[in-house]
Amino acid sequence: MKFFVDSADVDEIRELEETGLVDGVTTNPSLVAKTGRDFKEVVQEICAIVDGPVSAEVTATEADAMVEEGRNLAEIADNVTIKVPLTWDGLKACRALTQGGTMVNVTLCFSANQALLAAKAGATFISPFIGRLDDIGEDGMELIREIRTIYDNYEQLSTQILAASVRDETHVKQSAMAGADVATVPPKVLHALVKHPLTDKGLDAFLADWKSTGQSIL
Ligand code: G3P
Repeated sequence: MKFFVDSADVDEIRELEETGLVDGVTTNPSLVAKTGRDFKEVVQEICAIVDGPVSAEVTATEADAMVEEGRNLAEIADNVTIKVPLTWDGLKACRALTQGGTMVNVTLCFSANQALLAAKAGATFISPFIGRLDDIGEDGMELIREIRTIYDNYEQLSTQILAASVRDETHVKQSAMAGADVATVPPKVLHALVKHPLTDKGLDAFLADWKSTGQSIL
């Protein structure tokens, strides 16, 4: 499973990119607003840090305007991926942009039928929002499983499942178990993935025992 960083914070992204485990980035208007910075400057800086797909979301709601915004954003860098919402206009814009060779991430997906439409529209990625379904008492992970089943039924569907609205390490694990192609993960959750108390305890014990030997490797 690929790991994308779900953030528009350039410093957070740079720190995580140095682990060598970052395969891309997703932003959205809310994440960009949090930075207080110019949208296009942020996207340009992120694209210079991360080689993989970097999602930048259009804010128009009518298909032709979405396409115009998408083409404008795509000029920032080759790895810019245009995010469009899962609406009829978003699907029309998705088809136009992908036919023109631009990667598209169809976002705000909350049902398997929506994901099927996005795949038929040629989406590069589909972003089912796990956490927001959990927030209303539904099972966000079940949506990932349903989409995986549907996409695997039709070899002509090449859209990648990008698990989004990931809130904790369990969402990451379950997304991988369900066969998501990508999980876009907030930095705090990415940092938490490596931690386990028994790892820390075991390392302390190894180092203490090694110290007692009085040896050094170099
Ligand atoms: O990529 C979508 C993600 O940023 C939304 O997450 O926690 O606002 O549902 P959340």
